[in-house]
Amino acid sequence: MARQQMTQTLSQLDARYTWAIASLDRDPHEIFRKHRPMTPLLKREDGVYIAIRAADVEALITDPRTRQLETQLARARGVVDGPLLQFMANTLLLSNGVQHRQRRAPLAKAFAFDLMTELRPRVRSIAEQLIDQHYRRGAMDFISDFANWLPARVICAILGVPESDIPDFTRRVYSLARALSSSFSQEDVPELQRVSGELISYVHDLLEDRRLRPREDFLTSYATALDGSETLSNVEALVQIVTLLLAGSDTTRGALAIQTSLLLEHREQWNAVCKDSTLIPGAVLECLRYEPSVASFARVTVDDIALDGVMLPRGHIVSLSTLSALRDPSVYADPDKFDIRRTDHPRRHLVFGGGVHRCLGETLAKIELQEALAALSERLPNLELDGGPAIVHGSGGIRSVRDLRVRWAA
Ligand code: HEM
Repeated sequence: MARQQMTQTLSQLDARYTWAIASLDRDPHEIFRKHRPMTPLLKREDGVYIAIRAADVEALITDPRTRQLETQLARARGVVDGPLLQFMANTLLLSNGVQHRQRRAPLAKAFAFDLMTELRPRVRSIAEQLIDQHYRRGAMDFISDFANWLPARVICAILGVPESDIPDFTRRVYSLARALSSSFSQEDVPELQRVSGELISYVHDLLEDRRLRPREDFLTSYATALDGSETLSNVEALVQIVTLLLAGSDTTRGALAIQTSLLLEHREQWNAVCKDSTLIPGAVLECLRYEPSVASFARVTVDDIALDGVMLPRGHIVSLSTLSALRDPSVYADPDKFDIRRTDHPRRHLVFGGGVHRCLGETLAKIELQEALAALSERLPNLELDGGPAIVHGSGGIRSVRDLRVRWAA
């Protein structure tokens, strides 16, 4: 009987709560706000379920009845071979169990809290240099002149990648990021195959170069550790570095643009940050909550899961909507209000996920966002939007952020 009730609820869900991806992408906050009190799950027209309540998102991340996608999404889009499948099959992000631990362990030390904290002055100095480069012009295209460069230069510094390679590898990783959104379509596949192949062979050349000409950098120590290791294959090793280039640059550039745009749209709060730099950490957390650059991440269900009387059936992809959870009134007072002084952020910000896949670059991302804001507010207190706010698009995965021009009196 209980099972029957679940099934009935599911069929109602199918009828009333199924959404086209295009509609979700256009106005995710409004759709999630409307449905959150009525249902724990929405369904997308492509069959992917979306968990929209904070407590469920949090619980499903570590629920043993869910697992990472591995190649399930790729295969569902008809990808059965080629470099894109190599990327999806080997990246730590999409893997499970022992494989995941073996892939994550060699990277974890390089992104440890203390090492990242030591990097803070360097991040600040990169932010200052980017401002200096454009200062006299009194205006910049914030995304292409600032947000693209800061995280890319920092990840180059950590890994030991030459900065002259930034334009080429960033163009490719911004494109590959679409493969990590559960809404990528078959039409995207040829381009994703091409850029995956180019990035894997680029990293192959970097590691070969370190074997021939060792230096004092992460890539050299990674290449040396690999040569004496039997736990990672060659292609696995290459794909972890591709993942770092991708995760290290695309997510944070979006967050930088969103943060700057939101603060300039809320002028009183920008002015407050300019007067009092102790508001910076709270401002960063609030921007990540209010308009996150990563809107969701996905899992597969390995068993039926009942959520508040609604069945999430086994064998399906479920998108855990951090975008919705971060505006859930059961966690945040007045969640649609942008307030850098709010005091109800949980200790662990959900934008960085949770469990064993929790973002490896969390400390680094926060430092980049804080130091960028410190440099901009100190050097350019009269910064203002030069046109409309940034256009943020997408309801799942890494979101696209475009069109943010700013100006100041030089
Ligand atoms: C605002 C910026 C960022 C956001 C919002 C973000 C968000 C996330 C989230 C939600 C996950 C977990 C995905 C899942 O469980 O499926 C994740 C994983 C990851 N992130 Fe970040 N990230 C950011 C910046 C960075 C940076 C700067 C790096 C630098 C290396 C990075 C590296 C990674 C890696 C390697 C993983 C995979 C971890 C694993 O699967 O064990 N991220 N990130």
